[in-house]
Amino acid sequence: MNAAKRFVLICGLCLFPLVFLTPAQEKSSTTGKDLFKQNCRVCHSKDSAQGEYSPLSLIQDQWKKFFTTKFASTHKDVRLPGQEKKLLETLTPEQLKTLQKYCIDHAADSEQPQTCSG
Ligand code: HEC
Repeated sequence: MNAAKRFVLICGLCLFPLVFLTPAQEKSSTTGKDLFKQNCRVCHSKDSAQGEYSPLSLIQDQWKKFFTTKFASTHKDVRLPGQEKKLLETLTPEQLKTLQKYCIDHAADSEQPQTCSG
């Protein structure tokens, strides 16, 4: 192997991890609040027939119970308006975790109760 080839090879090896790490970090920047607005608020805003739900609508225990026992059964057939896929199929397990944490962290009895609209 000549010097030029070796140089190219070493540079390639150094850049390789950078290419992989950069997009992964951007992807996880969606916040629980954004997710709630996109995936829950559409059906649970102020005048919704299904009732208004924000993190502060329930206390922490109620949210925990809701996500572990009720969410899958009460939402198994719901679709976001204009989407072909069901809500439960479009949410990744990671997004669901983020949503759940957001609701619990800002529940009525949390340190910082929050509506998702502010
Ligand atoms: C496409 C519309 C739709 C979307 C999106 C939606 N919901 Fe619902 N939600 C409903 C309907 C319909 C019900 C009533 C279900 C029932 O009573 O059987 C409901 C009920 C609920 C309830 C009350 C459940 C109970 O019986 O105690 C909560 C809490 C709730 N949703 C939270 C959420 C959260 C959090 C999200 C986002 C992750 C969400 N919803 C997304 C339609 C939706």
